[in-house]
Amino acid sequence: MAKTVLITGASSGIGLALAKMFARDGYDLVMVSQNEENLKKAEAEIKSVSKKITIYSIPMDLSLEGSAEELYKAVSDKSIRIDILVNNAGIQVYGNFHQVPLKDIERLMYLNMNTLVKLTGLFLADMTARGSGRILNLASTASFQPCPLNAVYCASKAFVLYFSEGIAEELAGTGITVTALCPGATSTNFAKRGNIEDTRYFKGRISSSDEVAAIGYKALMKGKRIVVVGAKNKLLAFSVRLVPRRMTTGLGKHLMQKI
Ligand SMILES: NC(=O)c1ccc[n+]([C@@H]2O[C@H](COP(=O)([O-])OP(=O)(O)OC[C@H]3O[C@@H](n4cnc5c(N)ncnc54)[C@H](OP(=O)(O)O)[C@@H]3O)[C@@H](O)[C@H]2O)c1
Repeated sequence: MAKTVLITGASSGIGLALAKMFARDGYDLVMVSQNEENLKKAEAEIKSVSKKITIYSIPMDLSLEGSAEELYKAVSDKSIRIDILVNNAGIQVYGNFHQVPLKDIERLMYLNMNTLVKLTGLFLADMTARGSGRILNLASTASFQPCPLNAVYCASKAFVLYFSEGIAEELAGTGITVTALCPGATSTNFAKRGNIEDTRYFKGRISSSDEVAAIGYKALMKGKRIVVVGAKNKLLAFSVRLVPRRMTTGLGKHLMQKI
């Protein structure tokens, strides 16, 4: 029986690149994102290459309260067993915190944290009952230090990293692994949507979504707990432990400023 992976935010960027990799290896897919048209396009693109797999596309706004429960029910009603959960969907809001609309912040917090935790809890219950499963959570290099001008996003990604590491340790020896994938700037729709294309951070070296997905896929299959994409990002993630916090916050602001 083919294994099934559920990927949130599977219609573009890193999520779509991951979906293609799983499809190539014969996994059935549950692809979730909010825009139905984009999702159908992504499904068709994968099906044109991987003809033998089954794809379920579920359009859903995961930034809404109750969406994780609704998604879990939709999957359970179809009797689909989720072997791998990829919590990839995420957004950001750029600007000084006191100047951005709180409703945008609330959506970010719900999608990046609440839904991720709830989906993990719901699908983990089935995985622990079976004694097997894998979870990949999209963190970021932003998980390692505070970022002015992107403060809530960075805090949400620190949350994802700490949450993932915490439960990975709890689950040690159960047959279930949890991996936090920490990419740096990556060429997807993310920067355009978040209005951060002109920042110093995105004017530096940018990974491709395929590159990030390949690194995440490998780490997930090996059951690694954290993977940082790229040597420079690895160095940055490590070096913030050695320098005063005030300095890392200053560097974060410098990188997030527009040029
Ligand atoms: N790109 C980077 O530089 C970078 C760096 C580090 C970490 N990350 C993380 O990587 C993850 C994927 O980002 P990406 O770069 O691939 O961005 P992307 O190309 O913008 O893709 C985001 C995906 O999430 C979906 N999504 C957004 N809001 C949603 C919602 N409310 N409900 C359901 N689905 C929603 C989008 O679907 P729709 O099109 O339907 O909205 C899309 O499929 C995010 O968690 C992000 O924080 C990205």
